[in-house]
Amino acid sequence: MSGSAKRSRVMARSRRLGHCICDPHKPCPCDLLLECDVCTCAGERLPVKPESADRVALTKLVRNAGCASKIAPADLARILARLPVVRDPRVVVSGATADDAGVFRLSDDLWLVQTVDVFSPCVDDPYLFGRIAAANSLSDCYAMGGTPLTALSIIGYPAHSLGEEPVAEMLRGGMEALAEAGVALVGGHSINDEEIKLGFSITGVIRPEELVTNAGAQPGDALLLTKPLGTGIIAFAAQIGRGSEEALRAASASMTALNREAAAVMKKVGARACTDVTGFGLLGHLWQVARESRVTAELWWEAVPLLPGVREYAAEGIAPGATERNREFAGPAVTVEEGVAEEALDVLYDAQTSGGLLIAVPGDRAREALARLREAGCREAAIIGRVVERSQGGIIVRATSDHGGDSRQAPGRPEATASPREECCAPGAAAVGAGSAGEAGQRFFAAAFAPGVLDVVQKEITAIALSVALRCGSCLRLHLDKARGMGLTAQEIEEAAWMGVAFGGAPSMLLWTEASRDLRTAGAGEMSRQVEGAEEPGCP
Ligand code: CO
Ligand code: CO
Ligand code: CO
Repeated sequence: MSGSAKRSRVMARSRRLGHCICDPHKPCPCDLLLECDVCTCAGERLPVKPESADRVALTKLVRNAGCASKIAPADLARILARLPVVRDPRVVVSGATADDAGVFRLSDDLWLVQTVDVFSPCVDDPYLFGRIAAANSLSDCYAMGGTPLTALSIIGYPAHSLGEEPVAEMLRGGMEALAEAGVALVGGHSINDEEIKLGFSITGVIRPEELVTNAGAQPGDALLLTKPLGTGIIAFAAQIGRGSEEALRAASASMTALNREAAAVMKKVGARACTDVTGFGLLGHLWQVARESRVTAELWWEAVPLLPGVREYAAEGIAPGATERNREFAGPAVTVEEGVAEEALDVLYDAQTSGGLLIAVPGDRAREALARLREAGCREAAIIGRVVERSQGGIIVRATSDHGGDSRQAPGRPEATASPREECCAPGAAAVGAGSAGEAGQRFFAAAFAPGVLDVVQKEITAIALSVALRCGSCLRLHLDKARGMGLTAQEIEEAAWMGVAFGGAPSMLLWTEASRDLRTAGAGEMSRQVEGAEEPGCP
């Protein structure tokens, strides 16, 4: 069938239906046909202008660059709270704990690590964008301690207007980064889409003893960051025509660098917690670690490594919209001390694309970890803070580390009310910090709550029953809060608590009656993930 015959056949059908068969929102003949004499329904293509193929500036085609294209964390949390919790004993790490990747038990000594990341262009060059997208996707697997094996590509691309060259370059860049990581691209999926998107789903493996989640940080740990901050600010500066060559080059080099070596060091130095810094910014991701680990972290602004120009851009007010969404997300848990530069928060909340690893290591191994990281090529890695105490999850931002004295007494001006300190009396939980007995207790405590044959949700249910049976009010408050955060329903919590009452008798019943009354007044009928910070049940 000739081209024009095909066109008249297709158009006849469109006319009969009253809708263009490729885009039912449009009439037939559509604007494209009238203006350019092209009928995409009949398989005709817009002519690609030869120069547009290699000089298309990707970031000019999108609204939000890179990881700033994520859905705002607070909005996402509300959406997820409406969904059922995944209960499967083979799931070791699920979406319930806001970690980097899911972990699934294949056998007792081999677990699967799976993750997917897709975003819009953060740089203009298609090849570079492909490399960054791959490095960024691999990073979530590395952040868990996993070894990535295979990748699937996910592409959204306006094929009719941009032609084949840019998308081929994007994939070539991605495949080169995957090859560098020793990962095989085994397939993918593409969608004809107005806005460019690219990402990879990564599958890896991990041995149980290698797993590093975001939930293991402990008081006394040092916090390390392996890459400098500021990729979001630099991409935005470039979008508004104010990015310098030097800043762009440094940001590109940082975003294409794999986190593989950093992850290898992380495992060698016995890291207790790790995550990669991406769309939620340093403070957003640090807060997830603090919240899941139930600790307060202290961050030293002057110690945080920055990409060139970032401090100056921030001082000029150059910050993309994602910064505000991240501030809304983590802000309630962040206390900012006096003396912290004004531009600091815009940088600390800046959404990163393919950022570095944020690692918590035991304090006495921090120097060794830093030396090994620098040796491994993370030349700007730095110790940027420490974990100070157990809590509901909070962050204190200070100018430097050398304030002297106890941070708890240091003058602080909260951005919002910080959560009250709460402790659990399970062995080790109270034995914070000093001494080898305390250390051993800590390890015991962490191991008891780590996912095993029972998943983390089942362990939380058990903890509630035991808290009631043993009549520990502060344990109960802590675990109720955590259970609600995981999306457990009121009925599930109620049943667990009554198991505790059955074993603990009248005093346990008194404790639970009071706690459940407060729960109800706190609107516990519709328990949902408590992402907005600590809404305390408020015990007597
Ligand atoms: Co991540
Ligand atoms: Co991710
Ligand atoms: Co498909």
